Amino acid sequence: MAQRKTESGFPVKPVYDQSDLPGDIDKRSGRPGEYPYTRGVYPTMYTSRPWTMRQYAGFGTATESNARYHQLLEHGTMGLSVAFDLPTQMGYDSDNPIAHGEVGKVGVAIDSLADMKTLFDGIPLDKVSTSMTINAPGSVLLLLYQLVAEEAGIPASALNGTIQNDILKEYIARGTYIFPPKPSLRLVADTFAYCRAEVPKWNTISISGYHMAEAGATPTQEIAFTLANGIDYVRAAIAAGLAVDDFAPRLSFFFVARTTLLEEVAKFRAARRIWARLMREEFGAQDPKSMMLRFHTQTAGVQLTAQQPEVNLVRVAVQGLGAVLGGTQSLHTNSYDEAIALPTEKAARLALRTQQVLAYETDLTATVDPFAGSYVVEAMTDEIEAGALALMERVASYGSSVDAIEAGFQKNEIETSAYRVAQEIDSGERVVVGLNRFKIAEEEPYEPLRVDPAIEAAQAKRLAAIRESRDGAAVEAALAEVKRAAQGTDNVLYPMRDALRAYATVGEVCDALREVWGVYRPVERF
Ligand code: 3HC
Repeated sequence: MAQRKTESGFPVKPVYDQSDLPGDIDKRSGRPGEYPYTRGVYPTMYTSRPWTMRQYAGFGTATESNARYHQLLEHGTMGLSVAFDLPTQMGYDSDNPIAHGEVGKVGVAIDSLADMKTLFDGIPLDKVSTSMTINAPGSVLLLLYQLVAEEAGIPASALNGTIQNDILKEYIARGTYIFPPKPSLRLVADTFAYCRAEVPKWNTISISGYHMAEAGATPTQEIAFTLANGIDYVRAAIAAGLAVDDFAPRLSFFFVARTTLLEEVAKFRAARRIWARLMREEFGAQDPKSMMLRFHTQTAGVQLTAQQPEVNLVRVAVQGLGAVLGGTQSLHTNSYDEAIALPTEKAARLALRTQQVLAYETDLTATVDPFAGSYVVEAMTDEIEAGALALMERVASYGSSVDAIEAGFQKNEIETSAYRVAQEIDSGERVVVGLNRFKIAEEEPYEPLRVDPAIEAAQAKRLAAIRESRDGAAVEAALAEVKRAAQGTDNVLYPMRDALRAYATVGEVCDALREVWGVYRPVERF
């Protein structure tokens, strides 16, 4: 029997015992809700409140997505999670020629305050927490969210949610960047300062490992590269004059949950311990909230198969179990049909029901961090911690995460891991049920949900009407103010908010910033 290895490449022993436990286990693990938070960020964790069931959703126009959010709230989802279409994510309006064919496709099209009001129509923004998966224009969508609340008489201080706002992983693994690293980090720091002053309960960033994992990163790489990005954000905020305890409590994280459950539980526990120590010892954080790594988890999209799609229900249940055993604060469970098309309402409901079974039918919410003291999970926690720290040292040897990114380091490491996994699947060494083993001759028919292509024209018409009805001179003046602030050092979110309130569009605000900051062009590497 070949020696089994973890996804991170460590050997897995057929039997673990007391000798595999570190001698200082109590010190290394601590108690739940206490430094270094290995066992969870809150003393009571799910025994007093389950994780937030937060299903990522969004497609078509704001009207269609608003209907899906109401369906999810009716089915019992506890938090909203907005998916935006690519033009919005790239800061282009729906009627920009570059947007053709993508409007409303992988998420909802948002061009202006009017669309944002439609998106949240009938949803009490002082009662829900809303995550928005938006990066380069993350601050623009946060401001639009605040303006919708303002028109509903809800103060910004009552708003609770998150913008992903993690531009560094976009350079590494996803590509929805706009500006070069320097102005991008300035915009992130401005957003931290703005939220501290105006929207204090808002989680200003969701430092993400998910997309790097989906691109092929191993659990150790996922943790190392994510936390290394976190270091760059903390340094940028401190360089911008912010005190670490003024912004660090509102940093959050986002990781994947793979089917290899034991290693995933160890991964989350190691990540909390590394971040807590880093914040206290390297950055001198005093506030315990600055040391707590609070995170969202999404089950692994790349491990879904289009073949025998119902088998994905089992994968997602195991992955969700791993996230919960690992102490996630918020969870998205993938729909079983997501490898084929946008999830149908039934598939989205089943995904949520999976979380509800984990929360209300199992005994997982009866006790905190049940794997604590497990020979194998504690041993794996230590292995991943050591591996991640060594990899973070390699990133640091470039100077910073941005320097390593510009040298192509993270991308190369991830691509090497991805290639190894692909080879193992092709050779059958890595079993994917239904794909390379246990196949069936005839796949059953499946009717995917399709986005109506006519929405692009409808969205362009809505945009034309807004441009017609708004005070053009006021918009021009407001956009000029955005450029002036971007050229200087004033916090650019304030003039951006005024422009958006005057119905400047997402594309116009981003174009104003493009004019001053330029756009990022990755260094071609062959
Ligand atoms: N004891 C004490 N307090 C507790 C508690 C406990 N056991 N459990 C919860 N709480 C409190 C918390 O302190 C918090 O109060 P606060 O806001 O005043 O601090 C409140 O209850 C809510 O709890 P959490 O903050 O733990 O849970 P949230 O769900 O509100 O926030 C988060 C979780 C991770 C911090 C937040 O950043 C979040 O929701 N992130 C979601 C990110 C997301 O959904 N991303 C989707 C990405 S999809 C994508 O990228 C694209 C695709 O391609 C993958």
